Amino acid sequence: MSQLSPPIAPSLVPQRTLASGAKIPAIGLGTFGSDHVSGAQIAATVLDAARIGYRHFDCAAVYGNESLIGEALQSVLKTVAPREELWVTSKLWNDKHAAKDVIPACNQSLRDLQLDYLDLYLVHWPFPNFHAPGCRTDSRSPDARPYIHAEFMETWGEMEKLLEQGLVRHIGTSNMTIPKLELLLEDARLRPHCNEMELHPHFQQPEFLTYLMGKKIQPIGFSPLGSPGRPERDRTPLDTSPLEDPIVRAIADEHRVHPAAICLKWAVQRGEIVIPFSVNPRNYAANLRAVAEDPLTHEEMEKITTADRRCRLIKGQVFLWKPDQLWEDLWDENGAITPA
Ligand SMILES: NC(=O)c1ccc[n+]([C@@H]2O[C@H](COP(=O)([O-])OP(=O)(O)OC[C@H]3O[C@@H](n4cnc5c(N)ncnc54)[C@H](OP(=O)(O)O)[C@@H]3O)[C@@H](O)[C@H]2O)c1
Repeated sequence: MSQLSPPIAPSLVPQRTLASGAKIPAIGLGTFGSDHVSGAQIAATVLDAARIGYRHFDCAAVYGNESLIGEALQSVLKTVAPREELWVTSKLWNDKHAAKDVIPACNQSLRDLQLDYLDLYLVHWPFPNFHAPGCRTDSRSPDARPYIHAEFMETWGEMEKLLEQGLVRHIGTSNMTIPKLELLLEDARLRPHCNEMELHPHFQQPEFLTYLMGKKIQPIGFSPLGSPGRPERDRTPLDTSPLEDPIVRAIADEHRVHPAAICLKWAVQRGEIVIPFSVNPRNYAANLRAVAEDPLTHEEMEKITTADRRCRLIKGQVFLWKPDQLWEDLWDENGAITPA
């Protein structure tokens, strides 16, 4: 176990209760290596993170490391905690949206992760647009398509089957918008339990959060620290960093912690689940501790609310379907689904 990090009892970590009644830890370990951290390093982190008290792991087929994480999870099961105390999420990648591909893709993740069920399975993006790992942001798949609701419902129908067959315990969406979710909620037999989305002090999405809470869909915030390690290709000159924010930094100074801890406390206290990535033992231990102790005051929470810059960092340019489109088209910013 990391010598730097005394364990934190999982009972001290806040939990969220989903519409199903299931409890999920309000912090999980992210496992996307942003093209520069190896799968082996991430798998070693999964085992050590479990030893210091993490019980929730956010995985995805496209991260390319599920088989290594599966070996780490086997060690976790043998030496740290039984299956029922773990929460493992995986995600359906964009090139597996066809109805015939969904259940096999989930089975592949189960084999790789060496599990017989997933706690949560998400549709990673609402577009079936494949892109090669590490490709440039101006790269487009030749058969890229817009959001087509009838097609998404075929994918969703298979997600419902996975739930009914017991291969997954919960299903959900990721990178959705309110207009797309409205359609899904109209037509779904089984509703999403969670929606994973970018959330941090510089991208707070308050309307979307209120919407999800009202529908009893649990928000899971990705890149909760503003993804400081994201690949160069995902950076633009207008991007800002919540870790550099003067309000966040002033509150961090008062609490004598890194600004990362303030971002995580704020997110969990506003009702989110956070999934920060780290392979640095000092950092992932501090992140777990941050949400387990020393909460922010009401005034501090309010101050951070004023720090919002509406700055989306994970823009998704590679999923655009026409030349000369703006990344904003992916996010239905005028309140309606962007037409084909
Ligand atoms: N659904 C989706 O489409 C989607 C999209 C993006 C991400 N995600 C998920 O969300 C996870 C997290 O997002 P992310 O990786 O983009 O960004 P993030 O968690 O906001 O940032 C991770 C970066 O912050 C650093 N860090 C972590 N803890 C720190 C601390 N206490 N102090 C200082 N630096 C710290 C890490 O470096 P060190 O390793 O050096 O600590 C790493 O470079 C991903 O791993 C993935 O599981 C999902």
